[in-house]
Amino acid sequence: MRSFILPLLLVLGSAVSPSGGRRCTEPPDGAVIVKPATKVAGEFSNLGEAVNSLPADNSSQVVFVYPGVYVGQVNVSRAGPVKIMGYTPNSLEFESNTVTLVHNSSLATAGSDDLTGTLRVLSNNVSLYNLDIRNDFGVAFSNGQAIALSGQGDQMGVYACGLYSYQDTLYTNVGNHVFLRSYIEGAVDFIFGRHSIAYFESNTIASKGAGCVTASGRELNDTGIYVFNQNKIVAAKDAFSNVTGNVFLGRPWGDFARVVMKNTYISAPLNKTIWSIWNPGDERIDSVLFGEYDSFGPGVAHANRPTFSTILTRPQAAEYTLSSVLQNYRDWVDSDYMLPEF
Ligand SMILES: *[C@@H]1O[C@H](CO)[C@@H](O)[C@H](O)[C@H]1NC(C)=O
Ligand SMILES: *[C@@H]1O[C@H](CO)[C@@H](O)[C@H](O)[C@H]1NC(C)=O
Ligand SMILES: *[C@@H]1O[C@H](CO)[C@@H](O)[C@H](O)[C@H]1NC(C)=O
Ligand SMILES: *[C@@H]1O[C@H](CO)[C@@H](O)[C@H](O)[C@H]1NC(C)=O
Ligand SMILES: *[C@@H]1O[C@H](CO)[C@@H](O)[C@H](O)[C@H]1NC(C)=O
Ligand SMILES: *[C@@H]1O[C@H](CO)[C@@H](O)[C@H](O)[C@H]1NC(C)=O
Ligand SMILES: *[C@@H]1O[C@H](CO)[C@@H](O)[C@H](O)[C@H]1NC(C)=O
Repeated sequence: MRSFILPLLLVLGSAVSPSGGRRCTEPPDGAVIVKPATKVAGEFSNLGEAVNSLPADNSSQVVFVYPGVYVGQVNVSRAGPVKIMGYTPNSLEFESNTVTLVHNSSLATAGSDDLTGTLRVLSNNVSLYNLDIRNDFGVAFSNGQAIALSGQGDQMGVYACGLYSYQDTLYTNVGNHVFLRSYIEGAVDFIFGRHSIAYFESNTIASKGAGCVTASGRELNDTGIYVFNQNKIVAAKDAFSNVTGNVFLGRPWGDFARVVMKNTYISAPLNKTIWSIWNPGDERIDSVLFGEYDSFGPGVAHANRPTFSTILTRPQAAEYTLSSVLQNYRDWVDSDYMLPEF
């Protein structure tokens, strides 16, 4: 299946743009409002303060963020569900995002990788819409780990968001996570974590320089897995020249690393081995699953894959779907952002 199918438009009306997304420019009733330099009582100019103001109970809460750049770390840790929505003229396209969260922190000073995160999701049932989330620490030779989004809670949904860093951009670590129609940029191990079940669909994944797209840290034969379906892997617009020949789809941070990529369009100039060992002398390849089904595009045209990677058969690939991978997905995944399943 080589075409990127646009979701069927079921809702028509003035709020729907030609490309299918909806304008989301008014806060829903009851939402907490975040707006740059607001002086209105009850509104916030800082997203972290707005999130911290939510009641510490099981109620569902919505935070609506007006266009702007918001500096500083945000932790989400309350018991009840939280939805954070950025103002957007087109809810289905990350290219239309108007809200940027920025923080500049790295492992050298933060104390742990998770603590560097610009947005840290520490509780369950958090969904993020139309937010660009950046860690601006950038390139560094050591202690360069700098997370944009840290996912430590169950049932985290990320919809049409942009995630930007260099090393360790997305820490998908604990829980069931879904990433749909988003943009994920980095160079070194920029999609990584230990235990999560993460499903990626219709995203643009952009490599900025030498390194691995994924670093699955699965250490046991547990339920953890990263499944990718119908994503694009490209070179970032401002990629460094060493991107060519030095990008791999993944390397095993953990001995049981498990990554499945289906129907991926790859134009990033990958190394021809496609997948990498962890490090020379510490390969970690005996129990990994690095599976691909129908990768296509110039990035894999001259592939010469190692024996520790697997080309899946059609029936094997069919076992890794959104519904088979994510627990109770109908209860929490926003179907507006999903591809039709059949
Ligand atoms: C949320 O609900 C659970 C289950 O009903 C309860 O055990 C917990 O104390 C509640 N938490 C808060 C913060 O109200
Ligand atoms: C986020 O949580 C960490 C660790 O609990 C804390 O050090 C940091 O100050 C928090 N950030 C904000 C903005 O509250
Ligand atoms: C929140 O997440 C937990 C863990 O996944 C789940 O059991 C619970 O039903 C969710 N609660 C709501 C209100 O969605
Ligand atoms: C981020 O912080 C580092 C110092 O820790 C600094 O060298 C760098 O210029 C900062 N980046 C930006 C974009 O502010
Ligand atoms: C790739 O190039 C960038 C920019 O010149 C540099 O900082 C980085 O260390 C290089 N990475 C490798 C693995 O050579
Ligand atoms: C992992 O566990 C599954 C069953 O849960 C089993 O089928 C599989 O062979 C195990 N793999 C390894 C590498 O032990
Ligand atoms: C591909 O990766 C191998 C192993 O890291 C390296 O030796 C080789 O130079 C790379 N190929 C290119 C074309 O950069």
